[in-house]
Amino acid sequence: MRTQVGIVGAGPAGLMLSHLLHLEGIASVVLESRSREEIESTIRAGVLEQGTIDLLERTGVGARMRREGAVHHGIKLRFGGRTHRIDLRALTGGKSIMLYAQHEVIKDLVQARLQAGGELRFEAEAIAVDGISGQSPRIRFREDGRAQELACDFVAGCDGFHGVSRAAIPDAARKEYQHVYPFGWFGFLTRAPSSSDELIYARHERGFALVSTRSPQIQRLYFQCDPRDDEESWSDARIWEEMHARLENVEGWKLTEGPILQKGIVALRSFMVEPMQHGRLFLAGDAAHIVPATGAKGLNLAVADVLVLSRALAAFFRSGNGALLDRYSATCLRRAWLVQRFSRWMTALTHRDDRDDAFTRQLQLAELEYLTNSRAAQAALAENYVGLAME
Ligand code: DHB
Repeated sequence: MRTQVGIVGAGPAGLMLSHLLHLEGIASVVLESRSREEIESTIRAGVLEQGTIDLLERTGVGARMRREGAVHHGIKLRFGGRTHRIDLRALTGGKSIMLYAQHEVIKDLVQARLQAGGELRFEAEAIAVDGISGQSPRIRFREDGRAQELACDFVAGCDGFHGVSRAAIPDAARKEYQHVYPFGWFGFLTRAPSSSDELIYARHERGFALVSTRSPQIQRLYFQCDPRDDEESWSDARIWEEMHARLENVEGWKLTEGPILQKGIVALRSFMVEPMQHGRLFLAGDAAHIVPATGAKGLNLAVADVLVLSRALAAFFRSGNGALLDRYSATCLRRAWLVQRFSRWMTALTHRDDRDDAFTRQLQLAELEYLTNSRAAQAALAENYVGLAME
């Protein structure tokens, strides 16, 4: 079994890479340990930056997003019993965001790849990536209980934080940076009409809360919790009580309630690996970096990585010029560190950290106060939120 680019993982990074390579006339095979049903139903974030929206549309996979997604031109910050709107569109010269769930993007990409005759192998679990220092790396994987091997010209490690690809980079050639936050997010879906036409990021003494949406009839809600909490220790009544307390009934606003359809807890983490490449292995998305959830940057950063990678691979296969491939890691890390900076800043701005002293808590309020009174500060938030323009 042989292909030009072996891709480990059918998340946003792996699928988008396979799609972009196909448009460049480059063959790839995607190996995914989970089933198609599983990847198409796992609930993740749902905010697309302007650049992600544009790329999906430009490459022919944006039609359903355009029909079913919701464009938002602003977001809201809530603290101290007040709500402040950040006008994303006005502050960025016309850019906005799209609310469209990650698993919907996955469905659209899977369909596009299969329609184009692309090879996606589900329930094919990568075991190891070998030979990345030579000309013909290989991915060892298990499918239907049998050991198999995929030989490639290049390997793209798009297999997430817990994937096997990253470990193929020798320890001595790899530096990792990590920051673990003492809190997590409790996220749930509820069948209830939207409480708000825009996202609400709320800072409260009891902790952070977020109001988002998936459709006019389904809300996506989150609140900061202990990352070791058990979902089942949160009854529906207790969940709603906590959400109401943190969001407050500001200016007559009210959170609409409905049956809770799905719930789960995620830990918040910042993680980076340097470099993102070694020999003929290139890491993209969560395999290379994790950002804390605040601001919903994970998918967008993964898409930015694979756009850089697809262009570099296209240049190599077209002319044998490896200059862009050589710069892949440096190019992606510049953006990734800036996104780390923003995600951490937005987390610190809105979360309660029990380790903070009273002085630090007052500073958090001063930061919010500055933001709501300074157009320059709002513009800085907005240009990051809609996605930094950089190549
Ligand atoms: C959503 C997730 C986020 O992390 C965020 O900052 C905003 C919205 C969401 O799932 O809708």
